Amino acid sequence: MNRRDALRSITLTAGVAGVGGLLPALSSCAHETHAPQSAPVLLLEPSFDRALPILPSAPPTLTLSAASATTSIRKGALSPSMSYGGNIYGPTIDVAMNDAVAVRLVNNLSVDTNIHWHGLAVPADMDGHPSRVAAPGSSIPYAFVIQQRACHAWYHSHVHGETGRQVTMGLAGSVLVRDAAEAALGLPTGVDEVVLMIQDKRLDMAGHQTYAPSASDIMNGHLGNHCTVNGMIGPVLATSRGWKRLRIVNASTARVFNLGMSDGIPMVVIGSDGGLLGAPQATRDVLLSPGERLDVLIDLSSLPAGGNAFLETRPFGGSATQGTNGVRVLRFDATAELGPSFTVPAALVPQPPISEEQAVRVRTFDIANIHDGGHDGHAGHGSMGHTINGIRYRMERTDIEVEANSVERWVFDNTKGTEVHPMHVHGAFMRILQRTGGRGTLATHEGGIKDTVLCMPGERVEVLVAIERHRGMYLLHCHQIEHSDDGMMLNMEVR
Ligand code: C2O
Ligand code: CU
Ligand code: CU
Repeated sequence: MNRRDALRSITLTAGVAGVGGLLPALSSCAHETHAPQSAPVLLLEPSFDRALPILPSAPPTLTLSAASATTSIRKGALSPSMSYGGNIYGPTIDVAMNDAVAVRLVNNLSVDTNIHWHGLAVPADMDGHPSRVAAPGSSIPYAFVIQQRACHAWYHSHVHGETGRQVTMGLAGSVLVRDAAEAALGLPTGVDEVVLMIQDKRLDMAGHQTYAPSASDIMNGHLGNHCTVNGMIGPVLATSRGWKRLRIVNASTARVFNLGMSDGIPMVVIGSDGGLLGAPQATRDVLLSPGERLDVLIDLSSLPAGGNAFLETRPFGGSATQGTNGVRVLRFDATAELGPSFTVPAALVPQPPISEEQAVRVRTFDIANIHDGGHDGHAGHGSMGHTINGIRYRMERTDIEVEANSVERWVFDNTKGTEVHPMHVHGAFMRILQRTGGRGTLATHEGGIKDTVLCMPGERVEVLVAIERHRGMYLLHCHQIEHSDDGMMLNMEVR
């Protein structure tokens, strides 16, 4: 049985046994009281029957109208969604170094919304802090200048307590930042460069996406039963036989993907959250957690005309609730046409110097604890809540003070934790130093500049944090959005 058949049979067996029927008993949680852990939610294998929607490009001056919409996530069904002007999600905003961005967010929803520019270094009052939201019928003008290296940033709503729902429904989009160093590499471009917004969705029998996290979803994540790309289950991209550049963002609230190519198709990681790596890294598969981006080259030149290959997410270990099965995510159908000839450059771009000697202080963040939010005078009403260092988010409180243009050494400690926490910082970029416990190693894309880092159960991750130049209030939070909506977030003031 080859691997593809093995994947199919895993899916089939899971379907017969029902959700959780195959899975080992979950290890009991270290906390004294906690919401019950439910069985993992398995992803269902799609049938591939519709063309991949390509997210439209937009210039940096535009209006984004957040509105309710409908979209066809599953073939033959229309689902409720939210969008910035389309059926789901927003356009891919194309910008270059020194470009002025002027985006007017118009709120045509019946609830508050705002926009956070995840991965862009912007002034604090432009960053989408949850204290600044547009009420229904009102708008927010976002204006800032791009001053950072080429990267794949993204934007999404950041209304405290509602981020998970709004991002899941579709209030998210990509930003591609370009620069001369990237252009000099001659990477695949035009139709050979594709933004893939990957998001798991929980669909009901009618094919409608739902978002109503239960107590156990707030612990384990609101995991979907389907994987979508650009808002669609089982998409197909007809493409020439050659190299492709995939600009992937995991827009799920909680699901971690283990992405790889079928049939031994070569896959080369060239970048992550904060831009290109120093050198390309060939890989078989890569764990990508919510909020992270992956810039990857794949080589389809060995496919025969009419042949196909799949981007898939594979099973992985380390968590009781995630990675329990694998499915195919996106099919590439090879046309007769040959793609432009391309050789992966031996070196990419020099990395910004962020060194250990620059670190002016060390901070440790205990991310393993779920506290009774009511006992310490902080927010909470005697209910369980997600915390960082035992503190639950409160809008008006400053939790961390850091200096503009400084470097700190941070430790995210999930050693005693049982949950998956992708930790994300606004107004700063990270370089990952080491991971101990759990996987005990860094993944291929983690050698680059990051803004989000995955901390699996049992892991302790040390990073250098380079604080950006803008002063004001930013955030540090878990990008497992059920956790951040539940309070796993701190205010960070840059002084
Ligand atoms: Cu993508 Cu504060 O988040
Ligand atoms: Cu962010
Ligand atoms: Cu978390």
